[in-house]
Amino acid sequence: MRPRRSRKLEARLEALLAQMTLAEKLGQLNQAHGGTPENKALVGQGRVGSLINLCPTDCPDPVAVYNSFQEAAVKGSRLGIPLIIGRDVIHGFRTMFPIPLGQAASFDPDLVCQAARVAATEAASWGINWTFAPMVDIARDPRWGRSAEGGGEDPVLASRMGAAMVRGFQGDDLGAPDSLAACAKHYVGYGAAEGGRDYNTTLIPEGYLRDVYLPPFRACVEAGAATLMSAFNDLNGVPASGNELTLRRILKKEWGFDGFVVSDWASIDEMISHGYCANRREAARAALRAGVDMEMVSPCYAEHLPDLVARGEVPLDWVDDAVRRILRIKFRLGLFDRPFIEPRPGVLLNPAHLATARRLAAACCVLLKNDGVLPLDCGVRKLAAIGPLADAPAEQMGCWTVDGLARDVVTPLAALREALAGRAEVTYAPGLPGARSTDTAGFAEAVAAARGADAVALFLGEDAGMSGEAHCRAFLDLPGAQAGLLEAVAAAGRPVVVVVMAGRALALPDVLAKSSAVLYAWHPGTMGGPALADLLLGAESPSGRLPVCLPRHVGQIPLYYAKRNTGRPARDEERGAPAGTPLDPKDFTSRYMDVEHTPLFPFGFGLTYSSFEYKELQLSSPAIGRDDALTASIRLTNTGRREAVEVVQLYVRDVAASLTRPVRELKDFQRVRLGPGESRRVEFVLRSSQLAFHGPDMKLRVEAGEFRLWIGPDAARGDSATFALTD
Ligand code: GLC
Repeated sequence: MRPRRSRKLEARLEALLAQMTLAEKLGQLNQAHGGTPENKALVGQGRVGSLINLCPTDCPDPVAVYNSFQEAAVKGSRLGIPLIIGRDVIHGFRTMFPIPLGQAASFDPDLVCQAARVAATEAASWGINWTFAPMVDIARDPRWGRSAEGGGEDPVLASRMGAAMVRGFQGDDLGAPDSLAACAKHYVGYGAAEGGRDYNTTLIPEGYLRDVYLPPFRACVEAGAATLMSAFNDLNGVPASGNELTLRRILKKEWGFDGFVVSDWASIDEMISHGYCANRREAARAALRAGVDMEMVSPCYAEHLPDLVARGEVPLDWVDDAVRRILRIKFRLGLFDRPFIEPRPGVLLNPAHLATARRLAAACCVLLKNDGVLPLDCGVRKLAAIGPLADAPAEQMGCWTVDGLARDVVTPLAALREALAGRAEVTYAPGLPGARSTDTAGFAEAVAAARGADAVALFLGEDAGMSGEAHCRAFLDLPGAQAGLLEAVAAAGRPVVVVVMAGRALALPDVLAKSSAVLYAWHPGTMGGPALADLLLGAESPSGRLPVCLPRHVGQIPLYYAKRNTGRPARDEERGAPAGTPLDPKDFTSRYMDVEHTPLFPFGFGLTYSSFEYKELQLSSPAIGRDDALTASIRLTNTGRREAVEVVQLYVRDVAASLTRPVRELKDFQRVRLGPGESRRVEFVLRSSQLAFHGPDMKLRVEAGEFRLWIGPDAARGDSATFALTD
């Protein structure tokens, strides 16, 4: 929830601002990197107001270091303004949760919120009061390495996840000792990088920006996010860190955001390389004018704002607005009243935190295929755990692990051995030294392990370094010789369950063809092993759903479900082009000659160990007015033999509008847990405001006309009905 303005806090803020010299004001706009003696001196002079990465992960006493730097600020500087200390606590601090893309696959905002709460508790106990998360960049190109860090391809899902993380990081009271200021990033459009190449140009029509890329940031602001981070990318010719439209006009004026914006790492300075500013002086002026309040590590503000203000080229108002915003968050964090922290032993990796990590890791896994081999039953007396990711703790945590330690990770191999102790033997063969390796010397051992077992759990995918910042791929298949390992192990003739660990959507048609079951685990974090054991052995039923569609081939990218229909949409009967084999098209429609136009798996897809039936779709009315709401419901029945969770999804299409609209858009979803044979009517309330889109005038509009609605298990299926919105 957005914090209410406190008159008392604002009065304290204004009184402080009135005492500040220009140098002290500009000091607040400056974030330095690291806990160096030079930075401590600058803090004591009031010339640095924030630090990033104060301590290294192996710091023996981070609380002491934190307190010593706060003392330099609070007791050393003239006005005693405390420091805000930032760090990338992206998907956990010491207890690592699945990568955010995996967390989105849980479709469980409440559980994601709990995980962020754990991360905040652990990080705050270590001397951090600001995290550079959640990342809420919509990403529809899995070649981009940072799709790992966000909430997937859909604005509604990414919005729910981002807001949940903000609530988790900030807690009910931003001033509490275990709260972190959140930072929604990277504002805005960064995920639309051309070619999926990081930092690349983004060209996004404003209506599309407002309908697709901005909503997750708006959701974070409405959830009370204290800060945002401006992005690296060139957005329609204006770098995001100098973009007055998105920062000053939309974020600060239209939305009324009253926190502050920090630049991304040297992104102000990089406006020179973009060719938008001739030098640091111009970059400082352009960024502050646009609305970037604090500069992360580059020196443009510190070097040039004093002279720019002195010469009247930067109005003091711009500076004061930035300082007010920064001080407001420091006051809301309680840093003026409680600048120092006490050591809190026993917080990191405590059993409750690990239990949450295990629950969330299990909820994130998506079952893509199961010919009945899962869950592995007591008939399995010998299980072969094979593959480069079966026992790879550092890789299992994924990108942006920062303070997670491999020594704390429980791998699938360890977890399976513990879970099956006394019941079945678990043998192990990596097959390859690493996920990228082409050294097949270990194949023979792997094949022998497969032959000697009743079943195989084969752990394949990407290592942690194949996704994240600046780690983009032009290919989406299994790296190294993993495909060959699968081929060799499958040829042993035992049922093969493939567990994929990856930081993105991969194109895995061959994996599907050669395995009995496929479980997509993303990078599942510290407790990924026990979570996977729970799923493979049936203690839990998979409930994850895809937050991004999985392509058949990289050549299909960009590929996302909420596409426009075009004037010549491909037809279902035109499916089936074998990848790589050009077939002459029979008609003139929008598809390829050499791969099927549909994804291998659609957005929202996921199997469970049970089965569900959707019946009796009902609408409360065949028509609604523009200020009304429609109730849509369906009868959901668990037709299987065990309890399971179904993620029921509501999609809508505006059939004809003043601008073309997507063939489907997710509007809501519910996780529904049903026992075998249990049935429940699942109800959604759809408000007409959820049908709005930005017209050519950039104003939100709801247009009368026919709408189609689906309630179903993913973006490709569902029972549908039509309704009208009337004037
Ligand atoms: C990096 C990333 C950003 C991160 C920041 C601080 O370059 O783009 O996501 O929060 O710098 O590490």
